[in-house]
Amino acid sequence: MRQVPQYLIIGNGRVARHFLHYFSLLGISVSHWHRGLPLEELGDAERILVLIRDDAIENFIRSHLDDKQGIKIHFSGSLVTELAIGAHPLTTFGQGLYAREKYEEIFFILDDTAPDFTQLLPGLPNPYARLAPAMKAKYHAHCVMAANYSCLLWQKLFDAFEHDFGLPAEAAFPLLKQQTENLVVDRANALTGPLLRGDQATIARNLAALSGDDYQNIYRVFVETYQGAEAQNRKEKAC
Ligand SMILES: NC(=O)c1ccc[n+]([C@@H]2O[C@H](COP(=O)([O-])OP(=O)(O)OC[C@H]3O[C@@H](n4cnc5c(N)ncnc54)[C@H](OP(=O)(O)O)[C@@H]3O)[C@@H](O)[C@H]2O)c1
Repeated sequence: MRQVPQYLIIGNGRVARHFLHYFSLLGISVSHWHRGLPLEELGDAERILVLIRDDAIENFIRSHLDDKQGIKIHFSGSLVTELAIGAHPLTTFGQGLYAREKYEEIFFILDDTAPDFTQLLPGLPNPYARLAPAMKAKYHAHCVMAANYSCLLWQKLFDAFEHDFGLPAEAAFPLLKQQTENLVVDRANALTGPLLRGDQATIARNLAALSGDDYQNIYRVFVETYQGAEAQNRKEKAC
Protein backbone atom coordinates (compact mmCIF):
# COMPACT_ATOMS: atom_id res chain seq x y z
CA MET A 1 0.00 0.00 0.00
CA ARG A 2 1.33 3.46 -0.90
CA GLN A 3 2.34 5.84 1.87
CA VAL A 4 -0.52 7.95 3.22
CA PRO A 5 0.52 11.52 4.11
CA GLN A 6 -0.28 13.36 7.31
CA TYR A 7 -3.64 15.13 7.07
CA LEU A 8 -4.91 18.19 8.92
CA ILE A 9 -8.62 18.99 9.04
CA ILE A 10 -9.60 22.57 9.82
CA GLY A 11 -13.15 23.27 11.00
CA ASN A 12 -15.66 21.81 13.37
CA GLY A 13 -18.82 21.81 11.28
CA ARG A 14 -20.71 18.94 9.72
CA VAL A 15 -18.25 18.10 6.99
CA ALA A 16 -15.21 18.31 9.28
CA ARG A 17 -16.87 15.94 11.77
CA HIS A 18 -17.90 13.49 9.02
CA PHE A 19 -14.40 13.43 7.52
CA LEU A 20 -12.69 13.02 10.89
CA HIS A 21 -14.94 9.98 11.33
CA TYR A 22 -14.30 8.69 7.79
CA PHE A 23 -10.54 9.02 8.22
CA SER A 24 -10.71 7.14 11.52
CA LEU A 25 -12.76 4.36 9.83
CA LEU A 26 -10.04 4.14 7.15
CA GLY A 27 -7.29 4.16 9.78
CA ILE A 28 -5.78 7.37 8.37
CA SER A 29 -3.99 9.56 10.86
CA VAL A 30 -5.34 13.12 10.94
CA SER A 31 -4.82 16.12 13.16
CA HIS A 32 -7.60 18.59 13.82
CA TRP A 33 -7.87 22.30 14.44
CA HIS A 34 -10.92 24.57 14.79
CA ARG A 35 -11.25 28.17 15.85
CA GLY A 36 -12.20 27.15 19.38
CA LEU A 37 -8.50 26.28 19.83
CA PRO A 38 -5.56 28.72 20.14
CA LEU A 39 -3.99 29.65 16.80
CA GLU A 40 -0.61 28.49 18.14
CA GLU A 41 -1.99 24.96 18.00
CA LEU A 42 -2.63 25.22 14.25
CA GLY A 43 0.08 22.96 12.87
CA ASP A 44 1.14 21.94 9.38
CA ALA A 45 0.54 18.72 7.43
CA GLU A 46 1.11 17.39 3.93
CA ARG A 47 -2.59 17.80 3.12
CA ILE A 48 -4.56 20.60 4.77
CA LEU A 49 -8.33 20.28 4.37
CA VAL A 50 -9.96 23.66 4.96
CA LEU A 51 -13.49 22.54 5.84
CA ILE A 52 -15.01 25.82 6.97
CA ARG A 53 -17.84 27.93 5.54
CA ASP A 54 -17.27 28.94 1.94
CA ASP A 55 -17.09 32.69 2.50
CA ALA A 56 -14.39 32.29 5.19
CA ILE A 57 -12.04 29.97 3.25
CA GLU A 58 -9.95 32.50 1.29
CA ASN A 59 -9.48 34.89 4.22
CA PHE A 60 -8.55 32.03 6.50
CA ILE A 61 -5.92 30.72 4.08
CA ARG A 62 -4.44 34.20 3.53
CA SER A 63 -4.36 34.97 7.24
CA HIS A 64 -3.28 31.66 8.74
CA LEU A 65 -2.01 29.19 6.14
CA ASP A 66 0.29 31.33 4.04
CA ASP A 67 3.43 29.92 5.68
CA LYS A 68 2.24 26.29 5.68
CA GLN A 69 3.91 23.87 3.30
CA GLY A 70 1.01 21.42 2.91
CA ILE A 71 -1.28 21.24 -0.12
CA LYS A 72 -4.42 23.21 0.72
CA ILE A 73 -7.72 21.66 -0.31
CA HIS A 74 -11.28 22.92 0.13
CA PHE A 75 -14.51 20.95 -0.28
CA SER A 76 -16.80 23.72 -1.55
CA GLY A 77 -18.98 22.91 -4.54
CA SER A 78 -19.02 26.49 -5.78
CA LEU A 79 -15.84 28.29 -4.68
CA VAL A 80 -13.10 28.74 -7.27
CA THR A 81 -9.85 30.07 -5.83
CA GLU A 82 -6.14 30.06 -6.56
CA LEU A 83 -5.47 29.57 -2.87
CA ALA A 84 -6.65 25.95 -2.56
CA ILE A 85 -7.60 23.01 -4.73
CA GLY A 86 -11.32 22.26 -4.93
CA ALA A 87 -12.53 18.70 -4.27
CA HIS A 88 -16.29 18.65 -3.76
CA PRO A 89 -17.68 15.56 -1.97
CA LEU A 90 -20.97 15.23 -3.84
CA THR A 91 -23.42 14.33 -1.13
CA THR A 92 -25.19 15.87 1.81
CA PHE A 93 -23.87 15.53 5.35
CA GLY A 94 -26.54 15.22 8.03
CA GLN A 95 -26.24 15.49 11.82
CA GLY A 96 -25.53 11.78 12.31
CA LEU A 97 -22.34 10.07 11.12
CA TYR A 98 -22.44 7.45 8.33
CA ALA A 99 -21.12 3.92 7.81
CA ARG A 100 -17.80 3.45 6.00
CA GLU A 101 -19.47 2.12 2.81
CA LYS A 102 -21.54 5.30 2.55
CA TYR A 103 -18.44 7.50 2.71
CA GLU A 104 -16.57 5.30 0.25
CA GLU A 105 -19.20 5.71 -2.46
CA ILE A 106 -19.16 9.54 -2.35
CA PHE A 107 -18.03 10.96 -5.68
CA PHE A 108 -15.47 13.76 -5.49
CA ILE A 109 -15.73 16.44 -8.18
CA LEU A 110 -12.23 17.84 -8.64
CA ASP A 111 -11.14 21.13 -10.21
CA ASP A 112 -9.87 20.00 -13.60
CA THR A 113 -6.52 21.61 -12.81
CA ALA A 114 -6.11 19.40 -9.71
CA PRO A 115 -3.49 16.65 -9.47
CA ASP A 116 -4.58 13.06 -9.78
CA PHE A 117 -7.06 12.12 -7.04
CA THR A 118 -4.78 9.44 -5.61
CA GLN A 119 -2.08 12.10 -5.16
CA LEU A 120 -4.41 14.79 -3.93
CA LEU A 121 -6.21 12.70 -1.32
CA PRO A 122 -4.06 9.58 -0.85
CA GLY A 123 -5.71 6.76 1.05
CA LEU A 124 -9.27 7.65 0.03
CA PRO A 125 -10.80 4.95 -2.20
CA ASN A 126 -13.55 7.22 -3.55
CA PRO A 127 -14.68 7.60 -7.15
CA TYR A 128 -14.03 11.00 -8.72
CA ALA A 129 -14.53 13.13 -11.82
CA ARG A 130 -13.24 16.51 -12.99
CA LEU A 131 -14.95 19.78 -13.79
CA ALA A 132 -13.73 23.02 -15.35
CA PRO A 133 -13.79 25.86 -12.79
CA ALA A 134 -15.87 27.93 -15.24
CA MET A 135 -18.66 25.33 -14.92
CA LYS A 136 -18.59 25.16 -11.14
CA ALA A 137 -21.19 27.84 -10.38
CA LYS A 138 -23.74 26.26 -12.73
CA TYR A 139 -22.92 22.77 -11.46
CA HIS A 140 -23.49 23.90 -7.87
CA ALA A 141 -26.76 25.63 -8.79
CA HIS A 142 -28.01 22.31 -10.17
CA CYS A 143 -26.93 20.43 -7.02
CA VAL A 144 -28.71 22.97 -4.81
CA MET A 145 -31.91 22.84 -6.87
CA ALA A 146 -32.02 19.05 -6.92
CA ALA A 147 -31.00 18.29 -3.34
CA ASN A 148 -31.97 21.30 -1.25
CA TYR A 149 -35.14 22.35 -3.02
CA SER A 150 -36.52 18.83 -3.21
CA CYS A 151 -35.73 18.58 0.52
CA LEU A 152 -37.93 21.62 1.14
CA LEU A 153 -40.76 20.01 -0.83
CA TRP A 154 -40.51 16.80 1.19
CA GLN A 155 -40.38 18.72 4.47
CA LYS A 156 -43.50 20.56 3.34
CA LEU A 157 -45.27 17.27 2.63
CA PHE A 158 -44.27 15.70 5.96
CA ASP A 159 -45.42 18.81 7.80
CA ALA A 160 -48.79 18.86 5.99
CA PHE A 161 -49.29 15.14 6.66
CA GLU A 162 -48.82 15.66 10.38
CA HIS A 163 -50.49 19.01 10.86
CA ASP A 164 -53.15 19.32 8.14
CA PHE A 165 -54.20 15.74 7.40
CA GLY A 166 -53.60 13.92 10.69
CA LEU A 167 -51.41 11.38 8.88
CA PRO A 168 -48.06 10.03 10.10
CA ALA A 169 -45.09 11.43 8.14
CA GLU A 170 -43.84 7.82 7.89
CA ALA A 171 -46.78 7.04 5.57
CA ALA A 172 -44.89 8.95 2.85
CA PHE A 173 -41.53 7.20 3.35
CA PRO A 174 -42.25 4.43 0.77
CA LEU A 175 -43.15 7.14 -1.77
CA LEU A 176 -39.90 9.00 -1.11
CA LYS A 177 -37.82 5.81 -1.26
CA GLN A 178 -39.54 4.52 -4.42
CA GLN A 179 -39.20 7.86 -6.21
CA THR A 180 -35.48 7.89 -5.33
CA GLU A 181 -35.02 4.29 -6.45
CA ASN A 182 -36.86 4.91 -9.73
CA LEU A 183 -34.59 7.88 -10.42
CA VAL A 184 -31.48 5.80 -9.76
CA VAL A 185 -32.66 2.81 -11.80
CA ASP A 186 -34.30 4.56 -14.79
CA ARG A 187 -34.07 8.35 -14.51
CA ALA A 188 -35.53 9.04 -17.96
CA ASN A 189 -38.81 7.35 -17.00
CA ALA A 190 -38.96 8.30 -13.32
CA LEU A 191 -41.50 11.12 -13.66
CA THR A 192 -45.16 10.20 -13.19
CA GLY A 193 -48.27 12.23 -12.38
CA PRO A 194 -50.44 14.91 -13.98
CA LEU A 195 -47.54 16.88 -15.48
CA LEU A 196 -46.34 13.86 -17.46
CA ARG A 197 -49.88 12.93 -18.50
CA GLY A 198 -50.72 16.51 -19.50
CA ASP A 199 -53.77 16.24 -17.22
CA GLN A 200 -54.76 19.91 -17.12
CA ALA A 201 -57.94 19.34 -15.07
CA THR A 202 -56.00 17.74 -12.21
CA ILE A 203 -53.32 20.43 -12.38
CA ALA A 204 -56.01 23.11 -12.14
CA ARG A 205 -57.60 21.34 -9.13
CA ASN A 206 -54.19 21.02 -7.42
CA LEU A 207 -53.50 24.72 -7.95
CA ALA A 208 -56.91 25.72 -6.61
CA ALA A 209 -56.42 23.47 -3.54
CA LEU A 210 -53.16 25.33 -2.78
CA SER A 211 -54.88 28.72 -2.75
CA GLY A 212 -53.41 30.86 0.05
CA ASP A 213 -50.43 28.51 0.40
CA ASP A 214 -46.97 29.99 -0.27
CA TYR A 215 -46.11 26.91 -2.29
CA GLN A 216 -48.92 27.50 -4.83
CA ASN A 217 -46.50 29.66 -6.76
CA ILE A 218 -43.86 26.90 -6.71
CA TYR A 219 -46.39 24.48 -8.21
CA ARG A 220 -47.34 27.03 -10.90
CA VAL A 221 -43.74 27.79 -11.85
CA PHE A 222 -42.96 24.06 -12.10
CA VAL A 223 -45.91 23.56 -14.50
CA GLU A 224 -44.91 26.55 -16.63
CA THR A 225 -41.24 25.55 -16.67
CA TYR A 226 -41.95 21.89 -17.49
CA GLN A 227 -44.48 22.72 -20.21
CA GLY A 228 -42.14 25.34 -21.68
CA ALA A 229 -39.27 22.85 -21.80
CA GLU A 230 -41.50 20.16 -23.34
CA ALA A 231 -42.70 22.58 -26.04
CA GLN A 232 -39.06 23.47 -26.80
CA ASN A 233 -38.14 19.76 -27.03
CA ARG A 234 -40.99 19.12 -29.49
CA LYS A 235 -39.88 22.10 -31.59
CA GLU A 236 -36.28 20.88 -31.70
CA LYS A 237 -37.38 17.35 -32.67
CA ALA A 238 -39.58 18.75 -35.46
CA CYS A 239 -36.65 20.71 -36.98
N1 LIG B 1 -22.90 20.36 4.50
C1 LIG B 1 -22.80 19.66 3.38
O1 LIG B 1 -23.65 18.77 3.14
C2 LIG B 1 -21.64 19.91 2.42
C3 LIG B 1 -21.51 19.05 1.32
C4 LIG B 1 -20.40 19.20 0.47
C5 LIG B 1 -19.47 20.20 0.71
N2 LIG B 1 -19.65 21.05 1.77
C6 LIG B 1 -18.59 22.07 2.00
O2 LIG B 1 -17.87 21.74 3.19
C7 LIG B 1 -17.38 22.95 3.81
C8 LIG B 1 -17.82 22.98 5.25
O3 LIG B 1 -19.25 22.99 5.28
P1 LIG B 1 -20.09 22.52 6.58
O4 LIG B 1 -21.42 22.07 6.07
O5 LIG B 1 -19.29 21.63 7.43
O6 LIG B 1 -20.31 23.91 7.30
P2 LIG B 1 -20.83 24.19 8.79
O7 LIG B 1 -21.41 22.95 9.39
O8 LIG B 1 -21.66 25.42 8.71
O9 LIG B 1 -19.47 24.50 9.58
C9 LIG B 1 -18.73 25.61 9.23
C10 LIG B 1 -17.46 25.61 10.03
O10 LIG B 1 -16.71 26.75 9.59
C11 LIG B 1 -16.17 27.35 10.73
N3 LIG B 1 -15.89 28.74 10.44
C12 LIG B 1 -16.74 29.68 9.96
N4 LIG B 1 -16.09 30.84 9.79
C13 LIG B 1 -14.81 30.62 10.19
C14 LIG B 1 -13.65 31.43 10.26
N5 LIG B 1 -13.69 32.72 9.89
N6 LIG B 1 -12.50 30.88 10.71
C15 LIG B 1 -12.45 29.59 11.06
N7 LIG B 1 -13.52 28.75 11.03
C16 LIG B 1 -14.67 29.29 10.60
C17 LIG B 1 -17.24 27.19 11.80
O11 LIG B 1 -16.67 27.41 13.06
P3 LIG B 1 -17.58 27.55 14.39
O12 LIG B 1 -18.06 26.13 14.65
O13 LIG B 1 -16.61 28.04 15.39
O14 LIG B 1 -18.69 28.50 14.04
C18 LIG B 1 -17.64 25.73 11.54
O15 LIG B 1 -16.75 24.86 12.18
C19 LIG B 1 -17.92 24.10 2.98
O16 LIG B 1 -16.95 24.50 2.03
C20 LIG B 1 -19.12 23.49 2.26
O17 LIG B 1 -19.43 24.15 1.03
C21 LIG B 1 -20.71 20.93 2.64
